[in-house]
Formats: sequence, structure tokens, C-alpha cells
Amino acid sequence: MKSSRNISRREFIDRVATGSAALGLAVGGAPAIVHPSPGERVTMGIIGAGIRGQEDMEAVLRAGGNVAMACDLYDGHLRRVQEIQPNTPVTKDYREVLERRDIDAVLIATSDHWHAPIAIDAMKAGKDVYCEKPMTHSIPEALEMVKVSKETGRVVQVGSQSLSMQSTHKGKEWVDSGQIGTIYNIQCEIYRPDPIGAWKYPIPPDASPQTIDWDRYLGNAPKRPFEAARFFQFRNWWDYGTGLAGDEYVHLLSRVHYLMNVQYPLSAVANGGIYHWKGDRDVPDIHNTLYDYGKFQVVVLGNLVSNFDGGEIVRFMGDKGTVVLTEESAMLLPYDEEWDYGYPLSSWPKDLKQQFIAAHKNDPTADVGTAWKRPKRKKEQFRQTREGTVDHILNFFASVKSRQQPIENVDFGCGTAVACHMANISYREKQRVFWNAERLELTGEKGPVDVSLS
Ligand SMILES: NC(=O)c1ccc[n+]([C@@H]2O[C@H](COP(=O)([O-])OP(=O)(O)OC[C@H]3O[C@@H](n4cnc5c(N)ncnc54)[C@H](O)[C@@H]3O)[C@@H](O)[C@H]2O)c1
Repeated sequence: MKSSRNISRREFIDRVATGSAALGLAVGGAPAIVHPSPGERVTMGIIGAGIRGQEDMEAVLRAGGNVAMACDLYDGHLRRVQEIQPNTPVTKDYREVLERRDIDAVLIATSDHWHAPIAIDAMKAGKDVYCEKPMTHSIPEALEMVKVSKETGRVVQVGSQSLSMQSTHKGKEWVDSGQIGTIYNIQCEIYRPDPIGAWKYPIPPDASPQTIDWDRYLGNAPKRPFEAARFFQFRNWWDYGTGLAGDEYVHLLSRVHYLMNVQYPLSAVANGGIYHWKGDRDVPDIHNTLYDYGKFQVVVLGNLVSNFDGGEIVRFMGDKGTVVLTEESAMLLPYDEEWDYGYPLSSWPKDLKQQFIAAHKNDPTADVGTAWKRPKRKKEQFRQTREGTVDHILNFFASVKSRQQPIENVDFGCGTAVACHMANISYREKQRVFWNAERLELTGEKGPVDVSLS
């Protein structure tokens, strides 16, 4: 608790409301920020109440939080919010959410181009922030969010709920135990070959400038006339979304960064194109990237075209086995070295073969036909029982109360955001890009790159 006396947050807010909160005023006259105590419910405002914002809102309620207000730019989404929780106050101006003193934290689930501007305003207004992935629309925004979070002391949790999945933690346990040896290579894949996977979401019949605040939606994006697709299918355009990297790589790379204890890649080189979903997008529908992390390599294959029932896969490939993570499970595939010289020795004449066997009969690395008799480690499979979002929100609530860092804090979110933006910038600039983690600078092998791009 940051208040000067040990009063409850609710009591404090009541005093503010009745004008008797003098004891709670911070130096300079600004109202002190009072955090919920361990026994209190966290009160949230939802900003961006579309598909994910509504799912998150339901997760907040399931996690025991209050939802005090919701903000969205489309009437239909605000009406739906009030079906989920009747009488929820709603607005199209997020600043009204930030002005509410009873709101401890905001959950931001807008299109990507609004994440950072709203998160920064929210932190400056004293709110903690749960921000959907990818943390930002560009690298400079990610660095700015880190800075503001440190300056304001606000907690930020980024919403790649895979970090709170049971399967991720099982995989980490296996990797940390050394069971798969040293990891030099990681393969990530994401397949979403149908129209919904390719973000061709349906447009509601009432979509119009009367039901949508189009000017506010454009925000820092180039001005243009109303176009419903650019609102409901925003991921298909760089102006509002971050393509396959920001939408999907981020889930995969969050698991990579968490299990491997790294923040940034050293370099990325990407290839891709629009092969199938032509005419309605400027982001690629196949986007493949090779990352160099120094001690290991990561390849990410992003595919909105091919009909392979793979979903999301991350394979941590060690020299003694592989850990495979999917959205639902973790698998340990150990392998045991098998030295069997029988095959090459079969090309030798008998006398040389026997001479070799006699000389190496006690050498386990020169096995000549008994390797298969040695005990083998068994494959293990773990199926998770929960999806992860409620756990991720509970982790955030615990941090809001304790003021400790959450599992996917702003530094972690910055790292995965930078990695995703590197894939996009490499694709768009057609060159390998290098990240200098000391100077927080991106350069290209052919020269400077435009970091304002997603
Ligand atoms: N963690 C996950 O698994 C997961 C899943 C889906 C989406 N997401 C993320 O959630 C975000 C939203 O995705 P979605 O599928 O819900 O999109 P959506 O289009 O359904 O919803 C986005 C909403 O943001 C609102 N919005 C945009 N700018 C706003 C502003 N300035 N103020 C208030 N509201 C604003 C729009 O009105 C829209 O309703 C994206 O960043 C996406 O990457 C995360």
C-alpha cells in the first residue's frame, strides 16, 4: 500500500468521492495511487472490447476481478459487453476509463496500432496495464513503454498467455533438468490455412461510420475514408496490425525466450509473400524467418495457406532429445546415442574387423552390435487442463497487489515485440537485420532500416 496511512483502498476511494482524502494526497497535491490489498478485488477497465477484449473480460471476471467500465469504437461490441455483464458503463473515449479513480488497471485489447499510445497514457494516469500481444506496433514504441513503465512504477503484463500455460512450465522443467542436453536449434511453426485463420473475419451488417468511430480508430495511421474491412480485419494491413509475426510469432517466441532465458535475438532474416489471399491485404500470407540468438538458432515458419493440421508448434532440439510444445500439450522425446560400428565395419575384411573388435571390446563408444540392448529413456506426454488466460490474469492481479514483476513484464514484452518487428522489417526491407541490445538499435546488413515500420 502506498497511502500514508493503512486505510483500505475502498475506504480511500470513498474519501476521495466525499472530498475528505487529504491524508491520502501525495506530495504536490496529486491524489496518491492506492493499490488493492491482498484481500481486495482488482478493478479493471477494458479498452478494446472486440473478440479478444470480450474473452479477456470474461477471464477477468472468472479470475475474481471487477470490470468497472468498457471502451470500444464499435456500438455492436459495446452492446455485447452489456450482454456479458449488464449495466457495464461504456464509452468510445478511453480517456474516460483513465479518469475513473476506482479503476486500478486497464486491459488493452485494441488493434495493435493503439496498444502503446493507450498503455503509455494509462501508466501516466496511474493505472497498471495488461496489454494484449504484441506489446507494440513498432520498436520505438516498445522502448518507450519500457521507459514509461520504469518512470511511473506501473506494472505491465503482456498478454501472451502461453507463458502461464501448464505445458510451457512442464517444458521448462524438462529443459532445465538437462534431460534434452544442450539446445542448439529451435523450430517453430504456425499453420492457419482457412479464411478465419487468414483473418478474413465477417463484417457485421450494421458496420458504418454511424456505428464506428472511424476517425478515432485511425489514430496515428494515415487518414483514409471509412472501410469496414480495415476495422474488422485490421491484421491484414501494416497500418493497424503486425502481420503473422505480431499475431502469431509472438506466442511461439514468448515460449522460446522464456525457456531459453533470453530477451532478444541478435539478427533475423525473413522471406515470404502473398501467395494465396491476394487483393485484400498488404501483410504476407507466408512469412518464414531465421533468427540467430548467438548460442542457438531459431527458425519460424508462418503459414496461412497450406492445409497442414499443425496449429502452433515449438520444438526445442537438444543434443540428447527434443521438447515439443503445442497449444495443449508438452512432449519429451529423449534420444539415446547409439554407437554401432557394425555398419561401417561390414566393408572391412574379416581379419581387420576382428582386430578392431578385439581392440575396442571394452569401449562403449565403439559398440559393434549391442547398442540396442541398452535401456532406452521413454517418451513422456503432458496434456494441460487449462488454456492459460485466466492464470495469466491471476498472475497480473498478484503483481498489481504485491508490486512485484509479473511473468511477462514490460522488458520481456519488449524483447518479443522487437523480435517480431525484426521479422517484419527484414521482410519489408529485404535484408538481414541486426539488433544491438546495448544500444537498443536496429541496423541492416545493407545499411540503415526504417524502424518506424512494424
Ligand atoms: N492473446 C491472445 O491469444 C489473443 C487472441 C486474439 C487477439 N489478441 C490480440 O488482441 C487484440 C485485439 O484483437 P481482436 O481479435 O479482439 O480484434 P477485434 O477487431 O475483434 O477487436 C479490436 C477492438 O479494438 C477496438 N479499438 C480499436 N482502437 C480503439 C481505441 N482507440 N479505443 C478503444 N477501442 C479501440 C475496436 O473498436 C475493436 O472492437 C490484438 O492486438 C490481438 O493481437 C490476442
